[in-house]
Order: sequence, then structure tokens, then C-alpha cells
Amino acid sequence: MLAHDVLIIGAGLAGQRAALAAAESGATVAIMSKVHPVRSHSVAAAGGINAAIAVDDDWTEHATDTVKGSDYLGDQDAIEVMCSEAPGEAMHLEHIGVTFHRNETGELDLRAFGGASKKRTAYVADITGQAILHVLYEQLMRHEVAVERFEEWFATSLILDADGHCAGAVARDIRSGAMEIFNAKSVILANGGNGQCYKPTTNALICTGDGISQAYRVGCPIMDMEMVQYHPTTLAENGFLITEGARGEGAHLLNSEGERFMEKYAPNKMELASRDVVSRAEQTEINEGRGVGAHGQGIYLDVTVVPKKRVLEALREIVNIGRDFAGTDITREPIVIRPGQHYIMGGVKTDVDGRTPITGLYAAGEVACVSVHGGNRLGANSLLDTLIFGRRSGEHAAQRGRQLTMPKAPASRLRADAEMIAAIIERPREGRRISEIKDELGTTMNEYVAVYRDEEGLTKAHEVVQRLKEQAGKAYVDDRGSVFNQDVLGALELGYMLDCAEATIVSAIDRKESRGAQFRLDHPERDDEQWLKHINVTRGADGEPELSYSEVTITKWQPEVRKY
Ligand code: FUM
Repeated sequence: MLAHDVLIIGAGLAGQRAALAAAESGATVAIMSKVHPVRSHSVAAAGGINAAIAVDDDWTEHATDTVKGSDYLGDQDAIEVMCSEAPGEAMHLEHIGVTFHRNETGELDLRAFGGASKKRTAYVADITGQAILHVLYEQLMRHEVAVERFEEWFATSLILDADGHCAGAVARDIRSGAMEIFNAKSVILANGGNGQCYKPTTNALICTGDGISQAYRVGCPIMDMEMVQYHPTTLAENGFLITEGARGEGAHLLNSEGERFMEKYAPNKMELASRDVVSRAEQTEINEGRGVGAHGQGIYLDVTVVPKKRVLEALREIVNIGRDFAGTDITREPIVIRPGQHYIMGGVKTDVDGRTPITGLYAAGEVACVSVHGGNRLGANSLLDTLIFGRRSGEHAAQRGRQLTMPKAPASRLRADAEMIAAIIERPREGRRISEIKDELGTTMNEYVAVYRDEEGLTKAHEVVQRLKEQAGKAYVDDRGSVFNQDVLGALELGYMLDCAEATIVSAIDRKESRGAQFRLDHPERDDEQWLKHINVTRGADGEPELSYSEVTITKWQPEVRKY
């Protein structure tokens, strides 16, 4: 059994930032990830990170935009923490070596992003996540003594002690199949969202909701799960992300009539309204027959209006993506995009120090719901969220560890998880394959739990998910070995995704209003009287989701009609 003050599961930006903060606060740390850390999904974050660092900006304006972006479902105390600490965090990144773009006078350059009243997004071309992730990884290696890295280890479940406090996790070394107990005074979940519940999605194959589901399975509430973000510009063919930075640099959205249709939906902000608004506008154009591309299911993103020199300097990654994955030279012609699943605003309920309602269990980044994004996240607020709440969780967990002895992690848990995995490997080759079930889940969610929703479609999706849960419990795997058996891990991931999908659907059915990313065709208005509240989902004794509600924290921004 291994023992550390802090165990961090997930090594993207939230996890690495938490590890650095915990180590710098004197804790011993284990950081575990099912992929090599620099292949974490944070590497895909493109457009930038928000921070009010311009001389004419102020963190309260950033907070105002974020509250409005959230459609007033974000908790304002948490939003204040995130936005007020953003400039310091951005400067810290710069000082440790992130090569943010600078303008001609040598100052940090800022680009426009959706839902922001000012240019506030610091960036490294359109590879900002990758740039930050690599710098943090370098920093992590400076702390080799305090931080032990477990790369390509898969956490199979969380361990609670006899008092119901988190005491660590069981994990499997993917390379060898060996199982181990990681005993810890505190565990920080930092293993991302559950975008793979959808097909297509901009999310990496690893985004399977592991942390959300594992917390849920030990009794932790998950919150705002109905709020699923569709990004306005994903490649029509395969859902790859085309950064919002393109619209930030001035690109236009056009329908089949060549019209800049955002004028009808958001005359002030046009293409830079918040994501829920732009995605709905695009979907409306498509549904009303003004789409482009195959079966009229797309919209044109016209980057040719941005000077070519600027595109090649600031948007070079999407030049490559357009060429390699759509056969389109975006410097010469419009590219066909459509709204695509991108982000989960919901997740494991936490406070501003990352604490969940389970003592000793923390969460930070997309796996968590603080809730700073509420009904809709602003672009470039997610990198910020990972870093601010990753750091705060790491500091808090380290501090907490100073007063504690190591909790007891029952050794029987190792055997239980090893037997559970062996039983999956030995299932008879009958029934369905994991990949078939996953495909059906993804296409169902994308059909019925998308930009537009209604009771009938959501109920259908729920029936499908309940059937898939039955089938997943018997689905077989082809690989019966122990070395790099991704097949059996896929079976575990499928179970996590089904938990997350079910929580999303039951919450979306329950919320009988339209707010942020949840647009109910059968309840098209926002209803603050009834629904200015979070929906929490906990796992009942029978294993079924149970719903409860919590207050939205309002500090100084009273709900208003939201217009862009
Ligand atoms: O469009 C983008 O670059 C994505 C950014 C984000 O989700 O924050």
C-alpha cells in the first residue's frame, strides 16, 4: 500500500496545478493519470485564458460577464473568487514560462472572446492549453521528491474509511495490470468531464466521466448535470474543435443565403454572443432550411475576412485542422461547421476550496461543479477554472493533511476491485460489444439531449440509457490479457458514462424551463420563480438517481433579461 498526504487523480491542468500547490505547501503528493500527463484533454484547449489584466479592465467586469454568461445559475461568490484571482494566476503562468502572445509594444496581447464585454483572453496562438500544460509538467519535474508521478495508472474506485471519509483509491497499472491501494489523507479528483457520452464531441477519448461517476458512487452529490455546452464551431464531419478564437479574430458565420444571421439573434455581440446563444442560432438556421454542406446540416465559418498574416500567426492550428480533416484552406474559403458537444458545466459539487460534501474528497476542473459556469460557460473561462480551483484544492488539501494521521484504507478493497475486473474479463462472448453500446449512447444523447430538448425526446433518451445500463452489465471484452488491457478499462468507462448520461437526462427532464444550455422547446422561457436553483443528483440506496435542490448564491448581480 502506498501512502501520501494528497492523491490527485488526473494530470491535466487542474491536477498538475493542484500537485504543484500541494507540494509547495509541504505535502507529499501522488499524481495519477490514465494517460501520459501531456496527453490530458487540457492539451486540446485552444483559444486562451480569461483574466482582467488590461488597464481599462477590472475583475468585476469579468465577473459581470461570467454571471450573465451563466444565465444567473453560477454561484456569484465562487465567480468572484475565480475572476479576482485570474490576473495573479495569468502573471504566475507568464513568470514560470508560458509564452503568451505579445503585441507590437511588447505587452501581453488579449483577444476578444464570446460573451466578454472587453478583450480579455490571453493566448498562445490557438494552442494555449498545450502551452500551459507543458510548462506545468516541467515545473512538476522540479518537485520530483515531493511529487510521485503514476503515469498510465487507472483509478478503479474511491475508498472511504469507517467514518465515511475519503481515504484513497484503488488503481490499476495499465502497463502490467497490477492493482494497488493508494492511501491518502485527501484525494483530489481532477480527471475531467464526460464529453464521450456524446458522439460526436470535441472531447478526447479519455473524457469518460470517471471522477464524476466514482464520486457519485460513494454518495457524493453531482450538480448542474443538465447543463451541457455545445460549442458553436466544430467541424461538420467529425466534431473537431475550431476555436472560438477564429470569431474573436473577426471571422463571420454565414447561412446558405450568405447572410450574417447572428444579426437577428444577437445584434450587439453578433458572432461573439455567448456559446449557448450562438449554437441555438445556428441550429435554428439549420432547422429552418438555411444550413449548408451535407444535408444542409452545417453553417459557414468565414475566416477569409481575417488578414491572412494574422490567421497564420494566431490561428495556425485550425489552418492545419481545416486542411487535414476537412480538405479546406480556411485562408481562402469558408469552412463548414456546426454546433457540437464540448463541455459539461455540471460535475461533482464543491466549494471554492474544492471540497466536496465527503470529508477528504476534493474536485477541481471540469470534473467539478463549483459552480462558476452555471447554465453556460464563457469561452476561455475553463482554463482559468482548472488553474484557480486546482491551486486552491491543492493548498487546502495540503494544509488539511498537516493536522491528520493517515486514515485506514481497508485492504479488502484491492481484492474487490481485482475480482470485479477479472469478472468482466471472463464474461462469455455473448450480448453486445462495449463499443456498440458506447456508440448508441453517443448518438442518442446527441439526438435528444442536445441544443434543443423536450420531454418526449428526453424520456426516449432515458429509456435508451436504462436499456444500455442493462446491456453494459453483461457486455463482453475481447482482450483477456493483463498487459495494456484497454478493453476492460473501456467496460469500466462505459459504466461511468452511463451514470453521467442518466444524471444529465433526469436533471434535464426535471428542469421545466429554458436557461443557458438547457433549452426546452416545451418550456421555452426562463422561470426564476421556480428554477433559480441548482439540481443535485445523488445515488439512492437502490442505485437510481435521486434529485434535490440547492440555492444559487447571489452576491450583487440580480437576475435580468439576458441580451447580447
Ligand atoms: O474555442 C475554444 O478555443 C475553446 C475554448 C474553451 O472552451 O474555453
